[in-house]
Amino acid sequence: MMQHHEGHTTAQKFFTSENAASYDSVARYATFGQDSAWKRKIVEAVCDRGSILELACGTGILSKMLVQSGRSVVGLDLTFDYLLASRNKIDVRVSQGTAEALPYREGQFDAIVSSYLAKYVDVEFVVKECLRVLRPGGIVVFHDFTYPEGGGMRKLWKFYFSILRLCGFFAPSWKTVFNHLDSYIENSRWVLKTEQALHQYRFSNVSVQYLTAGTAAIIIAEKP
Ligand SMILES: C[S@@+](CC[C@H](N)C(=O)[O-])C[C@H]1O[C@@H](n2cnc3c(N)ncnc32)[C@H](O)[C@@H]1O
Repeated sequence: MMQHHEGHTTAQKFFTSENAASYDSVARYATFGQDSAWKRKIVEAVCDRGSILELACGTGILSKMLVQSGRSVVGLDLTFDYLLASRNKIDVRVSQGTAEALPYREGQFDAIVSSYLAKYVDVEFVVKECLRVLRPGGIVVFHDFTYPEGGGMRKLWKFYFSILRLCGFFAPSWKTVFNHLDSYIENSRWVLKTEQALHQYRFSNVSVQYLTAGTAAIIIAEKP
């Protein structure tokens, strides 16, 4: 049976009605535009697939890019106010819920994508659910931040987050995120756990690609 994961509590503290309206700007500027570049990679990975489920669709940034590339998209997210924000951007069918228990029938989707979800969930439940709702040959794409390797890069990364913490004084609705996101990323083992879960549930062609000096990663795998 699914337990309450501590990532839910963190996600509920991080993503609120107060910061939903400013999320898109923060995602763009706080990543120096890398957010769009990473999402373009996700869009490329599913460019030959028809029906896409986006987990943790949030305010709909990726949903919009997928729709513009000709895909048919269904979204799911935990946070009601983020889903509301997505409605102002793009007309896709969205549901509120957790990615660990999907309200969809077996074999419904050609691909499942997510951006910044993996570190907040029990990824084994998510992968199990993806296996169920994907059709054979369907692919799953997980993207999230990672803690970079190497002393120099880590120093730079920590310096960046110290600046972000200062920004929190001027953006109170983001203070909790800016204060705690770095330790959350540093302590997350989402890449390893996701790879393990994908192998456990017999996904094939599992590939891991690190991006932007190891500050993010994309994992792609195929349902046999
Ligand atoms: C940083 S935002 C990313 C939103 C969107 N994916 C993007 O890239 O712009 C993280 C999102 O994950 C959602 N989330 C966190 N835990 C979740 C879960 N267990 N199931 C579904 N969504 C979740 C949050 O509600 C939030 O919208």
